Amino acid sequence: MAQATMKRSATPAIRQTKLLINGEWLDPVEGGSFETYNPATGQVLAKVAAASAKDVDKAVKAARRALESGPWGRMDAAERGRLMFKLADLVERESDELAKMESLNCGKTINDSLADMQGVVNTLRYYAGWADKIEGRTVPVRGNFLSYTLRQPVGVIGQIIPWNFPLLMLAWKWGPALACGNTVVMKPAEQTPLTALRMGELAMEAGFPAGVVNLLNGMGETTGAALVSHPDVDKIAFTGHVDTAKIIQKAAADTLKRVTFELGGKSPNVVFADCDMDEAVAGAFHAIYFHGGQCCTAGSRLFVENKIHQEFVERLAEKAKERKIGDPLDPMTEQGPQVSKEQMDKILGYCELGQKQGATLMTGGQRHGDKGFFVEPTIFDNVKDDMAIAKDEIFGPVVSVLPFQRVEEVIERANRTFYGLAAAVWTQDIDKAHRFAREVKAGTVWVNCYHIVDTTTPFGGFKMSGQGRENGEAALEHYTESKTVTVKLK
Ligand code: NAI
Ligand code: MG
Repeated sequence: MAQATMKRSATPAIRQTKLLINGEWLDPVEGGSFETYNPATGQVLAKVAAASAKDVDKAVKAARRALESGPWGRMDAAERGRLMFKLADLVERESDELAKMESLNCGKTINDSLADMQGVVNTLRYYAGWADKIEGRTVPVRGNFLSYTLRQPVGVIGQIIPWNFPLLMLAWKWGPALACGNTVVMKPAEQTPLTALRMGELAMEAGFPAGVVNLLNGMGETTGAALVSHPDVDKIAFTGHVDTAKIIQKAAADTLKRVTFELGGKSPNVVFADCDMDEAVAGAFHAIYFHGGQCCTAGSRLFVENKIHQEFVERLAEKAKERKIGDPLDPMTEQGPQVSKEQMDKILGYCELGQKQGATLMTGGQRHGDKGFFVEPTIFDNVKDDMAIAKDEIFGPVVSVLPFQRVEEVIERANRTFYGLAAAVWTQDIDKAHRFAREVKAGTVWVNCYHIVDTTTPFGGFKMSGQGRENGEAALEHYTESKTVTVKLK
């Protein structure tokens, strides 16, 4: 076990850096490792074990054994739920430490990390409650037969998650998978391995049988790819970039694995002149700058009706200039660093491109400070639909403001993208609100609010923003197979 040496006693110790396979913490067969950073300083936090294809194979075999011949497959559904409730309690017990670890490794503000931990607890409890409520049906077939359906686990699930909500994404993936009785091999993002490792320890403490959850850190192109191509993995659940999903879908085709994807977007946030202006300004601000814009649902295309456009942008810019950027562990901080130098450079590249292509830079556009990976809150005004900053997912604190005139026009322009994850509308007119909600192509629509995502409601994308749904009852569909049993009656 690696013992971290840290400057601030307030920062949590890194207790575990190995691979969790079959209930044991193991060194990788081929001895791989990688360094993980504090994005607020650029300093190395720890060296973490990296899994190769050989470790993936060991973990998949352990997960298969746990499913087919271990206690997990025969366990009462209610008992599965009890283990999940126990894990939720342990996360609650450790949430201060986990939140600090998340902020340290991911750069999100401590307040956001604490909110994430509550989300983790809520998600685990919600799905723990489902464990003994996943039911089949009796079906009125023709003839003298009794037909009923069983809902059974899909099997061994490979789960690949990103770095923007490290532990919350883990919970969104473990929750429904475990409630439905599957076993899991998870690969966390290489940028943020630390809270997942702690979570592995907590899962063992909760008493999950060996092999039910396996955790393999490592790179996408090696560890992730080995998981996707492994013939004994039944399904891949992935959250990340749309281009990575294309690679995964192609690789999964060889074994016809099930796949579910959640893939970000370029979400339209539409403000009509009849909105509550104070709420809409605050809402549009939160929509783009929450977690430094590193959010799949970020409101990065801000459509503002001509009549209020000038005032709206000025008020938004004022707020952006006042944003407190700094140490994510300081409770007064409102915006931490971007997760990595790579992400910071990508965002700054778009800031340059926006200016080159002729958008008006209202504020920001620069790196903040010279240590760590901070970017100023940035506003581009008078953006055109075909500019790169209006089309590409920037995944940073950069908003494109697009003025508009009419309802039909803005709905058509909002839909002019291959993404379809989220959308929002700000208006007091219920007719406009519901018309927009019905016609916009997005998996989530917010009316006079933004970023309200609850574990109980389905979440996912239209078009190239995803396949399938997470959260809510909807996720259970994607973690069960339906089996029809027909009995001849005399
Ligand atoms: P990514 O899609 O490359 O990484 C996400 C996860 O996939 C990580 O665990 C990574 O190791 C894994 N991965 C990468 N290549 C893989 C492969 N060939 N096979 C299997 N697994 C693989 O995203 P990345 O590079 O971290 O970020 C790039 C951009 O992706 C961001 O700027 C953002 O636009 C988008 N993104 C979207 C997220 C969302 O919430 N929808 C989350 C993170 C990134
Ligand atoms: Mg990548």
